[in-house]
Amino acid sequence: MTAPSSEQSLDSLLARHQALGLLRVFTCGSVDDGKSTLIGRLLYDAKLLLDDQLSSLEKDRRTAGGDIDYSLLVDGLAAEREQGITIDVAYRFFATARRKFILADTPGHEQYTRNMVTGASTADLAIVLVDARKGILPQTRRHSTIVSLLGVRQVVLAVNKMDLIGYQETIFDTIAREFAGLAARLGLAQVIAIPVSAGKGDNVIEGSERMPWYRGPALLPFLETVELDKGDTAKPFRLPVQWVNRPDPDFRGLCGTIASGDIQLGDPIIVLPGGQNSRVEAIVTFDGNLDRAETGQAVTLLLEDDIDIGRGDVLVAGEMPMVSDQFTAHLVWMSAEPMIPERSYLFRIGTTVTPGQVTALKYQINVDTGEHLAARTLDLNGIAYCNLAFDRPVVVDAYAACREMGSFIVIDRLTNGTVGAGMIDHGLRRADNLPWQHLDVGKSSRASQKRQKPCVVWFTGLSGSGKSTIANAVEKRLHALGRHTYLLDGDNLRHGLNRDLGFTVADRVENIRRVGEVAKLMINAGLIVLVSFISPFRRERTMVREMVEADEFIEIFVDTPLAICEQRDPKGLYRKARQGDLKNFTGVDSPYEAPENPELVLDTLTRGVDELADQVIGMLERRQ
Ligand code: ADX
Repeated sequence: MTAPSSEQSLDSLLARHQALGLLRVFTCGSVDDGKSTLIGRLLYDAKLLLDDQLSSLEKDRRTAGGDIDYSLLVDGLAAEREQGITIDVAYRFFATARRKFILADTPGHEQYTRNMVTGASTADLAIVLVDARKGILPQTRRHSTIVSLLGVRQVVLAVNKMDLIGYQETIFDTIAREFAGLAARLGLAQVIAIPVSAGKGDNVIEGSERMPWYRGPALLPFLETVELDKGDTAKPFRLPVQWVNRPDPDFRGLCGTIASGDIQLGDPIIVLPGGQNSRVEAIVTFDGNLDRAETGQAVTLLLEDDIDIGRGDVLVAGEMPMVSDQFTAHLVWMSAEPMIPERSYLFRIGTTVTPGQVTALKYQINVDTGEHLAARTLDLNGIAYCNLAFDRPVVVDAYAACREMGSFIVIDRLTNGTVGAGMIDHGLRRADNLPWQHLDVGKSSRASQKRQKPCVVWFTGLSGSGKSTIANAVEKRLHALGRHTYLLDGDNLRHGLNRDLGFTVADRVENIRRVGEVAKLMINAGLIVLVSFISPFRRERTMVREMVEADEFIEIFVDTPLAICEQRDPKGLYRKARQGDLKNFTGVDSPYEAPENPELVLDTLTRGVDELADQVIGMLERRQ
């Protein structure tokens, strides 16, 4: 049989090594704090140990079968790169006689948030480095805030450059006390402060005689012996199905990597979101069949019952996860283009990808102070708490309970680049109380009664390009032909349904989302809907296109150049905008993104309204 796919996350690959006592460490601090020196010293001294231990490690490998496969790391990084994340995180592998380590390090200047999220989300422990001469700085607070958000439980505060302050206990104590306060506010429970001098080697590999007042462990011995808090040992079982292996009708193998918990032959499981029950009949792996499998293992499960299961379904046991289409979450933004509430993005959660929106930006977190700030959009490196709505129910856990099942990445629908990452907090039950009401009279019966094929004819173009004039002429003709129509015009809707919206990017996104929903309802009613809105953004036009059926969206670009619209200036708005009396005016100080593949382009320079309306009617008649 075919083995499970190799598409595994770095986290799950590393989780397998966890069993070998691997510690994943993330370092935060800057070059000025002496980070490189500290890492260099750790690696250098530990590498010597590694050399010493090489032969015994070899032996370990052969006897225990638990190889240290370096390529696994590389594979993990490749997987992240495929998701479009440019990583500026260096992962270093090293080992001492007592433990193996993965040390993630980031440059820590530009785009620190993204790099920290990428590097720290898999970490067991974070080393927060400060310069003893400077103490706790805004960046220390920022790093600690992110570390706490990412659920890294164990933190070491390394107070470096103790030699430069004469190894004074009082200075160390003051810094340690201040950090303890910060840690308490952030809910970081396991914190230890260690006074070190990376340059001189004090308290890095072994205890320092120059600080007899410090009785705690040196850094490396601490890292070697710290007990990992794995939380509740009996974690619920989660297997997000990556693909279904069906070589013949009698075999249905459900392949994936166990995200949480363990499973044994005969165990009862539930398939979500469907809710079907079954039991584990066989656990198949590369190395033969197993009786039991645990977190991080890539397996193929056979169930006793023949249930229709697909990629994105999750097999669960133990405490139930959340199944909903609305959640609250922390969101970290990683793109230079801001996050706009109500804009449609793709959310990748486990093995599922679903369209969705941030429906409310509740507050942005000032990472320097922890303050909650009001915000309308989220910029690069911003962190916010928000409500999310997905197009369909998904199976997740709270991030605090399970990182693998509670984290997601956000993908831009146009560029396919990763623009954000997030951590689920809790489900909003609202979705559960909003079932779809079944209606006996459907779209097709309404359409056939009207003897027409409903669709939306979407006119986009600059203000003054002639959209409304042409749409109006088209509607008159359709009406005369006995068609049932409705014309949605930007200016008119802004007097009623959309009167609360202005012309910021966020408001325009919401404007188009609403008119898209209204157009969809009207298609459902069997109408030919004409929409005349500037609709300046490609993403929102694409979103509406995807909201309706494939041949129901007809995009018409009213292609009048800006100079001509400005010359015509039917409402005098361009003049106002140029004088600075009207802000965010499309074409002046707000962008217009022309369609790339519209169904029709209307050239208003060479043709009159009647001829253009004929062109539109001709096209519509051909598809009726
Ligand atoms: S859209 O960009 O959100 O699609 P919409 O089509 O609803 O815009 O509204 C555009 C109309 O609003 C314009 O035709 C114009 O009459 C008016 N308007 C007022 N202020 C602006 C502005 N800042 N930018 C564009 N149009 C504006």
